[in-house]
Amino acid sequence: MEPVVAVVVAAGSGVRLGGRTPKALRFVGGRPLVSASVAALAAGGADAAVVVLAEGLQDDFQQVLADATVPVRFVVGGATRQESVANGLAAIAADPELAGCRLVLVHDAARALVPPEVTARVIAAVRAGARGCVPVTAVVDTIREVDEGGSHVVDRSRLRAVQTPQGFDREVLVEAHARLRVTGEHVTDDAAAVEALGWPIVLVEGSREAFKITEPFDLAVAEALAGGR
Ligand code: CTP
Ligand code: MG
Repeated sequence: MEPVVAVVVAAGSGVRLGGRTPKALRFVGGRPLVSASVAALAAGGADAAVVVLAEGLQDDFQQVLADATVPVRFVVGGATRQESVANGLAAIAADPELAGCRLVLVHDAARALVPPEVTARVIAAVRAGARGCVPVTAVVDTIREVDEGGSHVVDRSRLRAVQTPQGFDREVLVEAHARLRVTGEHVTDDAAAVEALGWPIVLVEGSREAFKITEPFDLAVAEALAGGR
């Protein structure tokens, strides 16, 4: 089967979570978020990982990923998530052992508890021909759109929340990022960049457990969930 490489972006500063330790090195279920994320992706079918980290943290990351079950490479990230993903893609292209991977996943290290079956569904969709695939969940709250004139309820049955890992044909994702560099556009997610090239995005079922650990509340929830596994 075609090998899958995962870009795990972990170069953010974790301002909303707070604390002195960088977010990706905070513990959940007895290990750092970034270790849990790489293990989760490997369990779902990723064959290798490129971890994108903040300047100066390479030694710490190497240490906490020393026992990873798949080969892990490291690269320094950029000022935005988008730049960090681009750096991860460049590291794949420059690595003779990874440059043969046609399938790539992009994952937020902060979604440390993503169940293996979510990753497996994304990989399966890309193997089946999707150029881009994202896991989604239904929106459970009533949503109001707010504007200058007031607000109105949006039909939530038509809305989906988008998670990671997102899966791509690597060449298409590289082209999408090259285009962003030229146009200067910013996207919040890689699938949007691929969509801008004209490719349809395939949706697969995500999981509420793939939520992004963003604020202290999320870390507390993650800790409780990890304890129950
Ligand atoms: N990320 C990254 N490079 C950046 C910004 C974000 O690799 N320049 C990564 C984060 O490490 C995280 C993921 O993108 O795994 C999603 O970002 P987010 O949850 O916003 O994390 P942070 O940017 O670290 O948090 P905050 O926005 O609260 O500072
Ligand atoms: Mg951020």
